[in-house]
Amino acid sequence: MAYEEFFNLIKQQHVKVKDELTRLQKVTSTSEAMELWSQFKRDIVPHLKGEEKYFYGALQKSPDCKEVSDKALGEHHWATGVLNELDQMPKNEDWAVKLAGFKDAIFGHITFEEGEVFAKARQCLGETQLRDILTNYKDEEKRVLATMAT
Ligand SMILES: [Fe+2]
Ligand SMILES: [Fe+2]
Repeated sequence: MAYEEFFNLIKQQHVKVKDELTRLQKVTSTSEAMELWSQFKRDIVPHLKGEEKYFYGALQKSPDCKEVSDKALGEHHWATGVLNELDQMPKNEDWAVKLAGFKDAIFGHITFEEGEVFAKARQCLGETQLRDILTNYKDEEKRVLATMAT
């Protein structure tokens, strides 16, 4: 059912992103860190952009969902900033310290999104809207991924 399909896709991607962050914390070499980091970026950046543009874009227009959406978008903004910092840094011990804080924040954001945000979104968005969001989200993911360096 399209109604749940969008939420299920997002949840599947969250599982992957959490797994990658957990693995990133356990890397034993710089080359391993760089390889896994680049894979992580290719998963999380299209996810963030797709959510922002179409999911939160729709929630922003609904008065009952505006507040929860503002909070989530604020977290995305922060996460994108730290992601860019981590991207520029050499993958050393300072990087690992920063990564630990980033990981905690992302785990917290995912809990918030799957709990409070999805519950609210089910009230604010209809099935047709969710079907469109799913289609547009997938297109945006592909578009963003194509703009990213490998
Ligand atoms: Fe998010
Ligand atoms: Fe998400």
